[in-house]
Amino acid sequence: MATNITWHENLTHAERKGLTKQSGLTIWLTGLSASGKSTVACALEQFLLQHGINAYRLDGDNVRFGLNNDLGFSEADRNENIRRIAEVSKLFADSTTIAITSFISPYIADREKARVLHEKAGLPFVEVYVDVPIEVAEQRDPKGLYKKAREGIIKEFTGISAPYEAPKKPEIHLKNYESTVEESAQQIIAYLVEKKYIT
Ligand code: PPS
Repeated sequence: MATNITWHENLTHAERKGLTKQSGLTIWLTGLSASGKSTVACALEQFLLQHGINAYRLDGDNVRFGLNNDLGFSEADRNENIRRIAEVSKLFADSTTIAITSFISPYIADREKARVLHEKAGLPFVEVYVDVPIEVAEQRDPKGLYKKAREGIIKEFTGISAPYEAPKKPEIHLKNYESTVEESAQQIIAYLVEKKYIT
């Protein structure tokens, strides 16, 4: 960590909420490649925006084109990927936006750190497990990545040659092979309404 740096106090989240009349939080989608994280995140983002609620989606593939273009898929790089996204989503949430993240985020410890970071700042963190059996994800294979992983062309591929640690107690468990995208998005929205995060 750098030395000779000084923290400058900012508006508190409560003050921001008072001014914007909005609540910020992070909705953290985790799941295998091709589980449908991005599709559900898109549907959710669209619904929220259409209802006048500020939301912003941070997507695994997309963020790797910019902010995280120095990172690959080793365990250390994935740790750093998720650490940065946890920090960025916290900033969005603090700004009273609903941050929707869709990253494989395969390690429980990394997701836990993201949760603690939010909770320490008084920001809700909603973990959503986008659950599909690996056989279903592999059969979908929209980008042909599972095929390449099986052929050994892609190394350290989640679920094939790299681990995925499923959440033990997510706030929301989407069985994304039994429901439509709209039903999955609605399941999240129902949770947000129930918790009074949105009205
Ligand atoms: S992670 O594990 O959270 O750091 O991964 P993430 O940033 O979400 O990036 C996942 C997307 O990268 C593509 N891709 C891979 N995924 C997993 N393992 C390997 N080795 C890999 N190489 C490339 C893939 O398109 C993932 O996107 P999704 O949307 O999950 O399919």
